[in-house]
Amino acid sequence: MSINAVDVIRTKRDGGTLSDAQIDWVLDAYTKGVVADEQMSALAMAILLRGMDDREIARWTAAMIASGERLDLSAVTRPTVDKHSTGGVGDKITLPLTPLVAACGAAVPQLSGRGLGHTGGTLDKLESIPGWRAALSNVEFVEQLSTVGAVICQAGEGLAPADRKLYALRDVTGTVEAIPLIASSIMSKKIAEGTGALVLDVKVGTGAFMKSSDDARELARTMVELGRAHGVNTVALLTDMNTPLGLTVGNAIEVQESLEVLAGGGPADVVELTLALAREMLDAAGLSDVDPEAVLASGQAMDTWREMIRAQDGDPDAPMAAAKEVEVLRATQGGVVSAVDAMGIGLAAWRLGAGRARKEDPVSFAAGVVLHKKPGDRVSPGDVLAELRTDEPGRIASALETATPAFTIESLPRPAVPLIIDRIG
Ligand code: URA
Repeated sequence: MSINAVDVIRTKRDGGTLSDAQIDWVLDAYTKGVVADEQMSALAMAILLRGMDDREIARWTAAMIASGERLDLSAVTRPTVDKHSTGGVGDKITLPLTPLVAACGAAVPQLSGRGLGHTGGTLDKLESIPGWRAALSNVEFVEQLSTVGAVICQAGEGLAPADRKLYALRDVTGTVEAIPLIASSIMSKKIAEGTGALVLDVKVGTGAFMKSSDDARELARTMVELGRAHGVNTVALLTDMNTPLGLTVGNAIEVQESLEVLAGGGPADVVELTLALAREMLDAAGLSDVDPEAVLASGQAMDTWREMIRAQDGDPDAPMAAAKEVEVLRATQGGVVSAVDAMGIGLAAWRLGAGRARKEDPVSFAAGVVLHKKPGDRVSPGDVLAELRTDEPGRIASALETATPAFTIESLPRPAVPLIIDRIG
């Protein structure tokens, strides 16, 4: 029986389950341009509204992997382990974590993305280092993984091309937030990348895709099962994203904060999450006897960072971009900061120029928000809450519209919220 796009859309629209043959056909036909964008948009919306069962998600993921190449990392002698975050505000953890885990003896193949909307992208942050190159050939990728043990670069065109096309479509059709589509999108790229083990950082809160911990748990469970079904040893941590991570949200300023962590300092929450994820990655890679805290303190992770940046033509000693304008946001009342809303700060950084509205837009390396106060800090009227940095003064007023209400000041502190909420795996 022949399959056609309208029947596939109708099946899901009416609450049915898609057969393996329908899934294989629709993703293959979409990648080849036989199924049109408007048909795939309708199917994505039907999936968002009706969901998919575990068999459908597994088959959808396998078909996305099969749409492109699968990297072969068998030449790498160290155990391979990667980390993926579902995206948050101030989430620079990949930057200190990748060289740290490599310095502990694993090989970390990090294929990363650029930011879209209020969440930042690792490649945009690294591109603020003069000379650094995001695009590597597959041969360069495997070579650097074998020698340095750490690579952060952009995914090649050949990896899960069905996802590349579908993700761009979801972004403009209000269909990003479907758990089956998010899980299959992330896992198809990670499985195709060839990593042996994977640790997922699933963010929950105002600054994350998943606003509720039930949804985040469901996403984490789905991804852990997909990874394991494809032979990738996968675990997930559920972590808080109601508050930005660390004190910086932007590009160059997030690299500078990551360097503080690699030098043995940095904000407590960034250090805590870096070490927790490093421990999970080392366990998953069979290296649980290595203590990442000791390796961080020894300076070896900083040495690996410098090697990793140089291997991609970056100058780790070059001065980074500084913003032309700095606006200071001050407290208008005294008390205790009880909340710093991640979404409000993420949007402010984006409006200052740190993020992009369309994929092809450039980002400003220097723009962003530097927090001076975090939840639990006492403030007096007039104290600096945050600095808003930008190259274009005309952007400050709209950034203030979201940065100002992001701070809640109350007379009494609220109980501290744990950063790591749960572990699934
Ligand atoms: N990141 C991805 O790679 N895909 C999604 O669908 C969401 C976040």
